[in-house]
Amino acid sequence: MIDFCGIPLAHRIVNGSGTFDAIAARRAFGDAIVEQFPFAAFVSKTVTLEPRQGNPPPRLWELPGGLMNSIGLPNKGLAGYLQEDLPQLAELPVPLIVNVMGSAREDVARLVAAFAEREEVSALELNVSCPNVKTGLIMGADPRELAALLDHVRPHAGDKPLIVKLTPNCASPAEVAAAAEQHGADALSLINTLRGMAMHPDRPGEPWLGGGTGGVSGPAVRAIALSQVREVRARTELPIVGMGGVQSGRHAVDLHRAGADLCAVGTESFRDPLAAARIADEASMLDEAFPANAARGTEVVRL
Ligand SMILES: Cc1cc2nc3c(=O)[nH]c(=O)nc-3n(C[C@H](O)[C@H](O)[C@H](O)COP(=O)(O)O)c2cc1C
Repeated sequence: MIDFCGIPLAHRIVNGSGTFDAIAARRAFGDAIVEQFPFAAFVSKTVTLEPRQGNPPPRLWELPGGLMNSIGLPNKGLAGYLQEDLPQLAELPVPLIVNVMGSAREDVARLVAAFAEREEVSALELNVSCPNVKTGLIMGADPRELAALLDHVRPHAGDKPLIVKLTPNCASPAEVAAAAEQHGADALSLINTLRGMAMHPDRPGEPWLGGGTGGVSGPAVRAIALSQVREVRARTELPIVGMGGVQSGRHAVDLHRAGADLCAVGTESFRDPLAAARIADEASMLDEAFPANAARGTEVVRL
């Protein structure tokens, strides 16, 4: 067993928020996907206080080395999530980490407080890639802005571990990480997607994506993830969930050796919903820090 902020995990591979819909996967593939769940913990898609429709289409642009999305965080909002999603996610055989985001400190505090009192929730992840409506600053791009957010939010988290998901779209993720550590974060996760854009092929000067810009993920960002994880590891003692372009056990082991305690699989799960199980097995063959994926039993189920 791996210990992550006091949470026992069967292995080191989890999912990146928003890249694996466990409820839809169960509907599509049946209970097999739950019984042999590929991740050691499940990280929810970002939940906001109010429901969100997300961005207008088109929402995806395929890149030679990955994917760019402007999904825009559609979700049912806190009340809908508590009523409809949480009971279903509580049936998963692994700990649940809920990812939350708000555009005001008070909103984030309300979300954190609501999930802190739920025993189904093992930890909280703060998505800080969004602007503060009052200051205009991206919450996770500026060390002082993040410090103020954590000062406001930490008291509402009770004894739940608080993971801060860093954005790579800032001058120094390591400076932000240091501020997170000093202001009560229990762990860090990185990297979130990198801002990019694609031009519309038929409308000169217009963006392709409905949201204008999008977030780049997948193999294209792997080298950036490695360098940022290493840089952040040099600045903090906090446990790190490393992610960005992981497609194989080799990539997970590389991130671990750069300083990550856990590795998340994101974009790769769109190509193969069981990629994480393969990656966990491959990593366990390459590095003894990756124990065999005992939680899944013997064989990788084929869908
Ligand atoms: C389609 C898509 C949706 C995502 N949704 C979220 C989200 O809701 N919240 C969040 O914090 N990160 C979100 N992410 C970012 C991923 O969790 C991850 O940080 C990023 O994609 C890098 O990992 P990868 O290269 O393995 O995909 C999303 C990424 C993708 C591709």
